[in-house]
Amino acid sequence: MAEPRNRYSTVSLTLHWLTAALVVTQVLLIAAHEATEGPLSREFVQVHKSVGLTILVLTLGRIVWRLANPALPLPEAMPPWQKLLARATHVLFYVFLIAMPLVGWAASSAGGREIVWFGLFEWPLLPIG
Ligand code: HEM
Repeated sequence: MAEPRNRYSTVSLTLHWLTAALVVTQVLLIAAHEATEGPLSREFVQVHKSVGLTILVLTLGRIVWRLANPALPLPEAMPPWQKLLARATHVLFYVFLIAMPLVGWAASSAGGREIVWFGLFEWPLLPIG
């Protein structure tokens, strides 16, 4: 009989901490953008956009991974309302991790401002006026 899992997989842990680090980076990039002026300030926004879109792709990949590899079961002694709250919080985080970059992408698209992903290639703008 297979041993019950008591630890998240390396892929899950990596995706988790990478996402956390990138979200913190996003806030620092905006702070740097606001503290500077001119081309450097605009560069910070460019990197912010690239990191944000990376978070979007990572999160979509993470959801696929998560569906194929369900989370560890919560402790049996945990009251049902706490289990529900824990699950709802996780879902809410996924919603934020998708909604925030989507809103940024939509805003850039609506403003017609090009996005060049880490200076490597032009990221398509959403077809919104
Ligand atoms: C998880 C991903 C993201 C997070 C956490 C995030 C977070 C933020 C935050 C906290 C601000 C400051 C808002 C304010 O000053 O009121 C901001 C501004 C902004 N974000 Fe994002 N963002 C993300 C993704 C994106 C993406 C994907 C784009 C575009 C493709 C984007 C474009 C912008 C722009 C253009 C601004 C305004 C910068 C300015 O003040 O000129 N963001 N973002």
